[in-house]
Amino acid sequence: MTGRLIVLSNRIPTEAQPSGGLVVALHDCLTQRGGIWIGAAAEPTATPDEGFRTVATGAYTRLAFDLTPQEFETYYLGYANSVLWPLFHRRADLMDVQPGFAEGYLGVNARLAGLLADFLRPDDVLWVQDYHFLPLAHELRRLGVTNRIGFFLHIPFPVATDVPALPEAAVLPDWVAGYDVFGVQTRADVERLRILFDRNGVSGALGDGPIRLRGREVLPLACPIGIDAKGYRETAAKSAGGDRIAMPPQQKLVLGVDRLDYSKGLVQRFAGFGAYLSARSGDDPQATLLQIAPPSREDVDAYQDIRMQLDLTTGSINGEHGEIDWTPIRYIRRPVPRDDLAGLYRRADVAMVTPLADGMNLVAKEFVAAQDPANPGVLILSHFAGAAEQMPQALIVNPYDAQDMAQALRRALTMTLAERRSRHAALWKAVDDEDIGWWTRRFLNALGGATVAEVA
Ligand code: G6P
Repeated sequence: MTGRLIVLSNRIPTEAQPSGGLVVALHDCLTQRGGIWIGAAAEPTATPDEGFRTVATGAYTRLAFDLTPQEFETYYLGYANSVLWPLFHRRADLMDVQPGFAEGYLGVNARLAGLLADFLRPDDVLWVQDYHFLPLAHELRRLGVTNRIGFFLHIPFPVATDVPALPEAAVLPDWVAGYDVFGVQTRADVERLRILFDRNGVSGALGDGPIRLRGREVLPLACPIGIDAKGYRETAAKSAGGDRIAMPPQQKLVLGVDRLDYSKGLVQRFAGFGAYLSARSGDDPQATLLQIAPPSREDVDAYQDIRMQLDLTTGSINGEHGEIDWTPIRYIRRPVPRDDLAGLYRRADVAMVTPLADGMNLVAKEFVAAQDPANPGVLILSHFAGAAEQMPQALIVNPYDAQDMAQALRRALTMTLAERRSRHAALWKAVDDEDIGWWTRRFLNALGGATVAEVA
């Protein structure tokens, strides 16, 4: 007998633009495989339904649970995005620990555990996604649930010496150990996870196998998330998005695409671009940076601050370097339809993916997939993106060093066709070999996915 694959994430797709890489990747994964995807309703409501509600059927079934405005405030904006997000992205200084946040977060997780305990059949496999639900399996185990439960963390695992900044630091290892497999994006994340257990006095945590804690066994797994590489390549080849850019032929297009988030290093990227412009000699190409940065989590102060900083930096660089017939930075603070975006990636000469900390960063992979192999663009990639482990043939940069980014830009903009092709071929191979299907198989095999039905 085989069970169903049940995936849980805070965000599920809506008619609006997808927000972040998680939703796109899971949509591709579930479309290929089938299953049930449970997530929070698009809007909070003061009159919540008690259980799960079917919102869509098709290649997979989508169920939603309601959040009250207060839960949205404490669980989502509060604990998940003002406490865990900054801490896990090495910005403990931006944490905002407020009374009620942890209670809200634990309350939503306990409520979901209750609903899932009733919903799960004995052979079902539950795959929980991201930092919104760290304590969920721990709660389910308390309710006596013995199903296989996996977790995947899309963002970086925190540095052990930062973790004491979390008021709940003492129970974090127990949350992790509630899962059978705890997937992370990179080998560096596995290392940080093992060090955290080691520092908590768990013997054997630094080895290769599962970690044992209070009668439970959890396997940390490096499992870098991928994209539907071939599908994306086709979309990009067909897209007319690139035609919308009118630029003189001698001008090069540098592209940046990120949620407007302080972890993405946008201010530093603009500074690096500004440094290129300042150092530019007559022979260096003129380049325009097109930055697309749709906002999210706008009610969190740190996001309002980064928005203001970016507005200021854009104005300052354009004021200094602009010409009557040329604006160096074109900055769009809205989402661009995915189809158009694919064409823009293909049209761009260079992509700058330069976060200060990032779990994976699927823009790097989408950019590579979108290129014309005969005349590909160049990827500039931060050392601090998880993608850097799989994509060493990109130009790897230190986003804190504007001169380093300026040099990489110069190199990218003047690179020979032969070098561009050979770097791109190696990058495409990595992106295509380890695509979204590979990611799903790797994780579910580790979790005991051989017994999970392909289509639930
Ligand atoms: C990152 C997270 C996802 C999240 C996405 C968008 O990719 O790993 O869990 O869904 O950002 O953020 P939002 O808060 O808008 O869902």
